[in-house]
Amino acid sequence: MIRMDAVFSTKVKGLQFAPARLSPPVPAHRARSCSIRSPRYVSHTIERAALGTETDSPAHSYNVRALATLILAAILLAACASTAAGDAVATGEIVVTEYNAPAVQPTGHYGYGQDASAVEIAGWDIDIRPDGMGLPPGSATPEDGEMMYEDKCALCHGSFGEGVGRYPVLAGGEGTLTEPRPEKTVGSFWPYASTLWDYIHRAMPFAEPESLSDEEVYAITAYVLYLNDLVDYDFELNQDTLAAIEMPNKDGFFFDDRPDTANELCMSNCKDPATITITSEPTLTDEPEPEAASTAAVEMSPGEATYQQACAMCHAAGVADAPILGEQAAWAERIALGRDALISSSINGKGFMPPKGGQTQLSDDDVTAAVDFMIERAAN
Ligand code: HEC
Ligand code: HEC
Repeated sequence: MIRMDAVFSTKVKGLQFAPARLSPPVPAHRARSCSIRSPRYVSHTIERAALGTETDSPAHSYNVRALATLILAAILLAACASTAAGDAVATGEIVVTEYNAPAVQPTGHYGYGQDASAVEIAGWDIDIRPDGMGLPPGSATPEDGEMMYEDKCALCHGSFGEGVGRYPVLAGGEGTLTEPRPEKTVGSFWPYASTLWDYIHRAMPFAEPESLSDEEVYAITAYVLYLNDLVDYDFELNQDTLAAIEMPNKDGFFFDDRPDTANELCMSNCKDPATITITSEPTLTDEPEPEAASTAAVEMSPGEATYQQACAMCHAAGVADAPILGEQAAWAERIALGRDALISSSINGKGFMPPKGGQTQLSDDDVTAAVDFMIERAAN
């Protein structure tokens, strides 16, 4: 019996496949003896393939192919797993167990599972960082990659990276990022060349992720960079030169440095933290309200009060081109529509204004009063 200690949760409809745990995971390209790709990337393929739903798209047939690859991978994996465990392949029966099936050796940190070995980790740890960390040794020129690209990539991405049909364009687009229809390509958009190596290595060709050797990835990466006029035809791409390439849009990305809150740190004369309580109820402060504001609140008409509470957030400053309170020019044409029309658009919404300014708890009369207040202000 071949035992496969793995979880395969399969959603047939969306063709999603999420292996949560594989024991032992088969390292992707580093454990060639089992010559199976890491299931993570098989799953990647399937999800990607599931996206290509247009019936006339070539991606469609990859659904089927990817699924076949998956099933094959599962079978091979089972074989590998059992071989690794020293099981004899006796009956050929395959058992896929559920996740919570008892672990074989309860050893790990939480009392189940087992520690990942260095080889297993290496199979998953394939990311390449912007500074080139993670790149394997290797070296190639665009010239080396030209025919490989033509064979394995041009079918979808075009001989010049121009993209076939709706497949992504890989070259060109410089200077278009600020245009209404930016063309985001490797050359115009990507901040790091190392990402290209990583992406091609882990995800391309679309139907056969991780099928390329490191040398091939270097060669094809070099060629895609060449298609973007970023390197010459005889440029020697290797661990060092790749990380040193400066992409045109490298400064177009930055870490979001906005603070989470606008609070300023109190350094002196601060409130005693012991006296601070957090409540969901508003509490009256000791400080008296400024005189003017409190009188105004008392004298406010119901229409104005509704306006302040529900309408001012847009109409005070003209958010989304809302006519500003009291601006005669902005209101003249509105008022010409007639009071009823204005009331109706305020109750039912208009353009970017939601019904009742978004406060549907308001009665029609409340809104009408607010509209009257606004009309009145426009006249003065
Ligand atoms: C069967 C069609 C197909 C083939 C063949 C193919 N790709 Fe792709 N490629 C795609 C699709 C589809 C995407 C978009 C995937 C996504 O967004 O998830 C893509 C995305 C890419 C991207 C990212 C583009 C971007 O700007 O986001 C690169 C780079 C790329 N492919 C390079 C290659 C290379 C190099 C090869 C050859 C080794 C290759 N592809 C082969 C279909 C293909
Ligand atoms: C989310 C922002 C927003 C809020 C809140 C909001 N409005 Fe508006 N309001 C707008 C915008 C935007 C327009 C212009 C709509 C258009 O002409 O497309 C507008 C237009 C109007 C008009 C002119 C309608 C017309 O037919 O030309 C009136 C009257 C009006 N608002 C009253 C109110 C009242 C009363 C409230 C509060 C109950 C309110 N608005 C709350 C955004 C807002």
